[in-house]
Order: sequence, then C-alpha cells, then structure tokens
Amino acid sequence: MKMSQLGSSGIACSSVGLGTWAMGGWMWGGSDDVGAISAIHASLDAGVNFIDTAPAYGLGHAEELVGHALKGRRDKVVLATKCGLVWHTQKGTHFFNEEGHDVYRYLGKDSIAYELEQSLARLKTDYVDLYFTHWQDETTPIEETMGALLDLKRQGKIRAIGISNANETILSKYLEYGPVDAIQERYSLLDRELEQDVIPLCRKHNVSVHGYSSLALGLLAGPIPPTRVFEGDDQRRDNPRFSPANRERLAAFFQAIEPIRAAHGCSFGQLMIAWSLSRIDLALCGARKPAQAQDNAGAGALELAAHDLERITTEAARHLTTIA
Ligand SMILES: NC(=O)c1ccc[n+]([C@@H]2O[C@H](COP(=O)([O-])OP(=O)(O)OC[C@H]3O[C@@H](n4cnc5c(N)ncnc54)[C@H](OP(=O)(O)O)[C@@H]3O)[C@@H](O)[C@H]2O)c1
Repeated sequence: MKMSQLGSSGIACSSVGLGTWAMGGWMWGGSDDVGAISAIHASLDAGVNFIDTAPAYGLGHAEELVGHALKGRRDKVVLATKCGLVWHTQKGTHFFNEEGHDVYRYLGKDSIAYELEQSLARLKTDYVDLYFTHWQDETTPIEETMGALLDLKRQGKIRAIGISNANETILSKYLEYGPVDAIQERYSLLDRELEQDVIPLCRKHNVSVHGYSSLALGLLAGPIPPTRVFEGDDQRRDNPRFSPANRERLAAFFQAIEPIRAAHGCSFGQLMIAWSLSRIDLALCGARKPAQAQDNAGAGALELAAHDLERITTEAARHLTTIA
C-alpha cells in the first residue's frame, strides 16, 4: 500500500481510504450494518489505515458503526470525521432534509465544539485525527471557524484540520489563519475540475489532496448491466449519469481499456483509483461489502506506467466527455 503524509501533521495515510457514506444508509437505499462492519475490517486487513465518516451519514449511524468496528483497533487508524452539517440548531443556511430532520450548513464556534463531542461519543474515542468542515457556511466568518478548529487542535481533540466542498478562494482564506492539512473534494476520471486551480494551490501550501467519490458512486467500478435497478432512496435511481445511454458509453470505455486491465491482472475499479492516485494523494472509496473493500484497497499497490495512464485519459476523452 502506497502511503502519503497528511499535510504538515506528521501523520501517514494509506493512499486508498475507506468512505462510509453509503454505510449510513441515507441516499443509498438503506444500510446493512453487518456487511458494513465486515467491510471496515476487510479494508483494515488489506492495508487501508484511513477511514472517513461524517455525522450526516445517516444522522450519526455511520459514525456509530465505525466506532463499533474500531473497537481494539483505534490506534491503528487515521480517523477523519466532519463538522458543519447540523440538525441541533437552525442557525446558518438550510441545506436539506434528512429523514425528517432539517439539516443546516453552520460552522459557528460553539456548534463545532458541540458537534465534535457528539462525534467522539459515537466514535467511542477521545480524539479525531483529521477534522473536516464538511460544507462551507457563508454566515460565519472563516476566521471564527478556523479559530474553533485551532482551539480543538490545541486541546488535543483533533490532530489535523481539513476542509471540504470549498474552492481556491475559500481555501486561501482558511490558510490566512493557520495550516490546513487536507482538502476533500470530488475527484475521478469523470470529475477533474480540481486540477485547474485547487490542486496547484494545495501543492504550494502543503495541503494534501483527498478525492471523494473515486468510483463516481460505482459507475467507474466496472460496467453496470442495463438490468441493474437502484431501489428506494438510492440517489443513483434518478441520477442521469446512470442512464442506459451512459452505461453504454462506460461499457465501450471499459472495453477500450480492457487490454490494460488484463495486463495488470486487476479490476477496472482498481485501474480507475490508480489513475486518480497519479494526480492526488488519497482516493476515498465507499464500500459496503468486504469484497469491494478488498478490491479497492488493492489499487494502493497498483503501478501504472505513463503510457497506461495516457491511454486511459485518451479513451475517457473519447467515450466519456458527454457524461456531465
Ligand atoms: N466531503 C463530501 O461532501 C463527500 C461527498 C461524497 C463522498 N464523500 C466521502 O467519500 C467516500 C467515497 O465516495 P462515495 O461513497 O460517494 O462513492 P464511490 O466511492 O465513488 O462509490 C461507492 C459505491 O460504489 C460501489 N463500489 C465500491 N467499490 C466497488 C467495487 N470494488 N466493485 C463494485 N462496486 C463497488 C458501491 O456501490 P453499492 O453499495 O451499490 O455496491 C459503493 O457503495 C464516501 O463514502 C464519503 O466518505 C465525501
């Protein structure tokens, strides 16, 4: 497993991280707790040491599962969770309703301190390795938010600071008040906006670049048969990216890169994750089944030659540019 340093924190992270959004169930058609816990264990056993969660993933459910799964293994893990999507107050900006609860974007000082205590209790730990602001809040000055995070760091309750769903202007503002160790943004072969301004800024300030939805919610894990149906509140049910026409485009793309997959004896998902890792520091992959977790972890050991990377990029440009 390739490793990378987390900003200036001195913490080493596996290049593949396990994401737990789907484990929370909400927006993913429900959860399977036993499968989720097995997937966390499978991931750690396969060399992943980075686990990402958030209070919003099932209103605390994913954090509780992580806390349960890490019993006896907490010190082996770099644990990331988040603040800023809240349902205990109506301050900030209304964002969405989750299972009957109105969730607000809010990053006020007292709220962050409250949220962290709630997360620590659910995660059954007394510190978080990396604490992200999940979404940005226009109603609170970044100086106040960063001040709260730096206080928590001084108290030893968090070891590193990250920001998510930001842009280069917001990142620059945070950096005025202290070190940011990581950003977490959507990134994969289908979502490359980050490359323009954010990655160069991160490289300049030693901010690690963590990508989320590395498999584009499963689209890049390999061809999805036209017969697969997404049930219940699964966000993929109405997502145009999963249309029959796009599934066909992806199938053609995978066919075009099949020789690379075969030469490496790997899965398509591993190829896609390894492609991302040629440009960013850590790829977060969701998995609810042990086999998926193991498969994704395997990408952390995959070495792709420059000509393989170039071919994958070229074939994506040929087949996938119309997938918005
Ligand atoms: N900061 C943010 O705002 C933000 C936003 C999104 C995500 N994230 C983080 O990033 C993590 C990863 O992103 P994501 O979960 O959105 O999407 P993802 O990793 O792109 O896709 C996850 C889904 O892909 C399928 N999959 C995964 N591995 C597979 C494999 N080896 N073979 C076949 N299918 C596979 C699974 O679908 P099935 O379960 O249907 O099998 C899985 O639930 C999240 O869990 C979360 O921790 C953060």
